[in-house]
Amino acid sequence: MQFVLNGKPTTLSANPAARLIDVLREECLLTGVKEGCGEGECGACTVLIDGEPVCSCIIPAGQVEGTEVVTIEGLGGNHPLQHLFMNEVGAQCGICTPGMIMAAMKLGDAPTLDDIKTALAGNLCRCTGYSAIYRAVLKWKGMPEPDTAGEMSVME
Ligand code: FES
Ligand code: FES
Repeated sequence: MQFVLNGKPTTLSANPAARLIDVLREECLLTGVKEGCGEGECGACTVLIDGEPVCSCIIPAGQVEGTEVVTIEGLGGNHPLQHLFMNEVGAQCGICTPGMIMAAMKLGDAPTLDDIKTALAGNLCRCTGYSAIYRAVLKWKGMPEPDTAGEMSVME
């Protein structure tokens, strides 16, 4: 299997039917890719394949042949959104955080709060509360927070 992983041409002899998350974590040692549900429901395992956020727990590794895969490690550890998640307390246990950040990578310039909610709709957080997460992404994009706290709720 040949693909580009976090910017580096990579060749692996992994079983193409293995789950991509397992290959990334166990063979490539990219343990920033987290497993929550293992069923494509929570988004914790989100990576980018050719720029699209996908759940790596439901993708056979063979599907990345010829693609470009980016995991949270590919952001280099010093990405502004990573700092904002820390500064805005957008992470507590941190299991959802890499997936949230990778899902947010697809956002374009000047996203609305609704755009952000949509981009992160497939990513579940059980501890932080979504307003801190949305605030981190809004600040990253240089967008103002809504005037009313209620709008920052995931239930809006
Ligand atoms: S671990 Fe992949 S979607 Fe939950
Ligand atoms: S910070 Fe724990 S699930 Fe989101």
